[in-house]
Amino acid sequence: MTTPDAAPFARSLPVAPGLPLVGSVGPMMRDPVRFLVDTHQALGPVFRLRVLNRRFVVMAGVEANQFVTRNERSYLASGPVFGGFGRELGGELFLASADGATHKRLRRIQTGSYAPAHVEGRCAEVVHTLRRRLGGLQPGQRLDVQRLFQLVLAEQVGLLLHNDDGLAHILDDLIRVFRTALNVKVIRQWPALALEWPAYRRSKRRILDHAAAVAAAHRDHPSAERQDLVDDILAAVERGDTIQEENVRLLTLGPLFGGIDTASNTAAFALHAILSKPAVRARVMAEIDAVFADGDAPAWDAFNAMPALRGVMMETLRMYPVAYLASRAVIADFEFAGHPIAAGEHLFVATAVPHFLPELFPDPYTFDIDRYGPERREHTTRGAFAPFGTGVHACLGARFAQSQIMITLATLLRVLDLELDPPGYTLRTRSNPVTMPVGLSVRVLGVRDDAQKVGAPWPAFSVNARRGLLSR
Ligand code: HEM
Repeated sequence: MTTPDAAPFARSLPVAPGLPLVGSVGPMMRDPVRFLVDTHQALGPVFRLRVLNRRFVVMAGVEANQFVTRNERSYLASGPVFGGFGRELGGELFLASADGATHKRLRRIQTGSYAPAHVEGRCAEVVHTLRRRLGGLQPGQRLDVQRLFQLVLAEQVGLLLHNDDGLAHILDDLIRVFRTALNVKVIRQWPALALEWPAYRRSKRRILDHAAAVAAAHRDHPSAERQDLVDDILAAVERGDTIQEENVRLLTLGPLFGGIDTASNTAAFALHAILSKPAVRARVMAEIDAVFADGDAPAWDAFNAMPALRGVMMETLRMYPVAYLASRAVIADFEFAGHPIAAGEHLFVATAVPHFLPELFPDPYTFDIDRYGPERREHTTRGAFAPFGTGVHACLGARFAQSQIMITLATLLRVLDLELDPPGYTLRTRSNPVTMPVGLSVRVLGVRDDAQKVGAPWPAFSVNARRGLLSR
C-alpha cells in the first residue's frame, strides 16, 4: 500500500500560510484549532498543510464532517496511521487502527460494555468512590487540576470497564506510554529512540502486565452479574470471533488510551469555566445543591436533568475540543469541493472547525451555556458539533465520558469549595497532541459537604506518582 506521505503533490490545492523550511509548525503547535479555523475561513474547505517535512491535505467545515460521515469506509483508512501504535504495544488489533469489516465487528463486540446500564446504572457507586477520595483533602491545599481529573476519571474507567480498582498505581505509566508511542508512531514528531528509553520500557512492561493480570482475574473469577469490557473481549476470544489471545492486553487498555487525556482535560477546562465565571458558577451550584439535597449519591436521572451543568459540558466540548482532528490515509481517489484528492495522501479532517463558525454558533469565541437549550439547539446542524469525531471511528466512549464528567464535576463542587489559584489565572493551553490546560491549579477553601461521612477517607491519592496531586 502507498504510505500516506508518498502521494504526488496535488498542486491545485491552496496552501496554508507557513515559513519556507518549517511550514506551519509554529501556529499548529501554539493554537492548532484557531489556525485551522482561520485558514479554513481564508482558503475554503480544503487546503494543503505542511508541517516540517510532512505534507497533509486538510478538509474542514460542516461539509467535510458530513462527507466523512457518509464516505469514510470507501475512501479513508486508519490502519496506515494508527497501526504502528498497536504494533508497538504488542497487538495489531485495536479499534482506532482497524478498518472495514474487522473494525465493524470489533466495535460491535465492545459496544455493550459502554452502554448506559453499565455506566449510568452504577452512578451511585461512582459518586461514593469519589466522595471517599475527596474526603482526604484539606482546606488550604492546592490541587493540580489536570492531575486530579486524570486520577479520578482513570479510576472510574478501571472500575466500570475492568471491575478493577488498582488503576491509579499505573496511571503515570499509562500516560507516559500513550504520549510516547503516539508521538513516535502516529504523529511522528519524536525520534524512534524515545521507545528505547528505560523509563518508557519499564512503563510499557508494567501496563501490559497490568492488563494481563486484569484478564487473568476475569478468567479466574467470572462474575455473572458484572459483565464488563474484559468479559466481552474474553468471550470473543473463546468463540473465535475476530479477537485472538495476543490482542487481549491492548484491547483491554484501549479505553484508557482513548479516555484518560481526553476526558480529564475536558473536565479540567469545564472546571476552569465554572470557577472563572461567577454567573455560570451560581447557576451550576444551584443545580448541584438541589440534586444532592436528597442524599449522598443521587441517581443518574438527577444529574441528567441539570441544564446549566450540561450546558457547561457541551460548551467546553465546543470551545476546548481536545481531539480536534481525525488523521486518515486516503485509500481511493475522490473529489471534494471541486478538488481531486489522490489515494496515498495523508488527510486531516479538522472536525472541530465548525465549532467556531459564526453562522453555526453566533459569537463563537464567547462561552455561552444556553446554546444547547430547546430554543436554540445550535449544535444540531449535521456536522456542526463533533467533539467526539465523526464517521465510523467516532468516539465509542462519548456517552460514557459525558456521564462521568457531569457526575464528577457535580460531586467535586458539592464536596469542596474551590477557587482558582492564583485567582486571576488566565487559561493557557498546549497540544501534545491532545489539548490540555497549562498550570491550572485550584485551592481548597473549605469542605462544603462532609465527604467523610460516607466512608473512611482515603489518603490523598498516595499513588506511585511522578507528579503528585498537590501542586506547590
Ligand atoms: C471528553 C472526552 C473524550 C473526547 C473528546 C473523545 C474524543 C474522541 C475522538 C475525537 C475519537 C475519534 C478519533 C478518530 O476519529 O481518529 C475518539 C475515539 C475513541 N474514543 Fe474517545 N473521547 C473522549 C473520551 C473517551 C472515553 C472516556 C473513552 C473510553 C472510556 C473513549 C474511548 C474511545 C474509543 C474506544 C475510540 C475509538 C473508536 C473507534 O476507533 O471506533 N473516549 N474519541
